[in-house]
Amino acid sequence: MEALVCRKHGDPTNPPDSSENSPLSVSTSHPIPNLISPTSVRVRIKSISLNYATYLQVLGKYQEKFPLPFVLGSDYSGVVEFVGPNVTKYGVPDGCDLVAAAAIPVAYGTSHQALVHRANLKSDQVLLVLGAAGGVGLAAVQIGKVRGAIVIAVARGTEKVEFLKSMGVDHVVDLSKEGVIESVKSFLKTKKLKGVDVVYDPVGGKLMKESMKLLNCGAQILVIGFASGEVPVIPANIALVKNWTIHGVYWGNYETNRPGVVEDSLKELLSWLARGLITIYMFRSYKLQEAYLAFLEIKDRKVIGKVMITVDDPKTIPSSRL
Ligand SMILES: NC(=O)c1ccc[n+]([C@@H]2O[C@H](COP(=O)([O-])OP(=O)(O)OC[C@H]3O[C@@H](n4cnc5c(N)ncnc54)[C@H](OP(=O)(O)O)[C@@H]3O)[C@@H](O)[C@H]2O)c1
Repeated sequence: MEALVCRKHGDPTNPPDSSENSPLSVSTSHPIPNLISPTSVRVRIKSISLNYATYLQVLGKYQEKFPLPFVLGSDYSGVVEFVGPNVTKYGVPDGCDLVAAAAIPVAYGTSHQALVHRANLKSDQVLLVLGAAGGVGLAAVQIGKVRGAIVIAVARGTEKVEFLKSMGVDHVVDLSKEGVIESVKSFLKTKKLKGVDVVYDPVGGKLMKESMKLLNCGAQILVIGFASGEVPVIPANIALVKNWTIHGVYWGNYETNRPGVVEDSLKELLSWLARGLITIYMFRSYKLQEAYLAFLEIKDRKVIGKVMITVDDPKTIPSSRL
């Protein structure tokens, strides 16, 4: 089988197999893994979603370190070819696009887990989404709207801002032109609202520090990631006097330790997708050999929504889909 393999840590924006510096390699004769357990499933991959986390994994800067070499692409969709005897449930509902479905597990799964399972976001609460045009951010924006929240999105640059407006968010902060505190405060004032009830933070750093000044008493902070490279400090004394709840959210941990929660969340997301309540915005799709171009767009903060790898495979028959 074909596989994009990370052989050593390094910058994934180097074309695969191009030089000694290239951490990635495209293998055309990678061994097909043995199906050893009765719960094994073998999937012929159609589409892979590349996340910021994938970029960090190749750099060797991700919180979990996979033993080298490892194959990229654990966020995927495709056609189920084999199921072990103990597998009873698999597949996606009719009406879901097979390529788009690959963007669901990590980005939408994380945001659903955070906003629905952890924060129990309610209608008319004010939700502030940082990094709102990125993978998890855009998912959070859409889930916030499905839950009936007042959604404030924070992003940088006209293209992202115009896109977020077209998604029906209630207010967008363009960080290339204005500060988050002034912009959000003046929006809240026009709506006669006091402050933010839930902040969704995949960015961290200075932006999160500033966003804390906008939070209501009793607010919830969803700690998702640190795309800025800086882990924010949330002072416990302020959390105490303001009755804040701080949720650390790690989807990968749920997948391992509470798979039932992940399954319920994916079921709801797929039904929303099939009903058109959420849409996957595919920024661009690349071939396996071009993955470095996708990493370049992630690195340069160009991506709106998701970048994907799509596999052209004449053998793919859209029947039992995952
Ligand atoms: N907790 C979990 O289970 C979980 C799951 C998935 C992802 N994550 C984490 O969430 C973060 C975002 O992931 P993603 O896949 O959504 O990434 P993404 O699509 O690349 O989006 C990241 C966003 O962060 C903003 N940003 C601010 N400062 C940045 C910087 N210095 N470098 C890059 N981006 C910066 C960018 O927005 P602007 O350019 O508009 O400012 C960008 O749109 C990552 O840290 C990832 O590891 C966590």
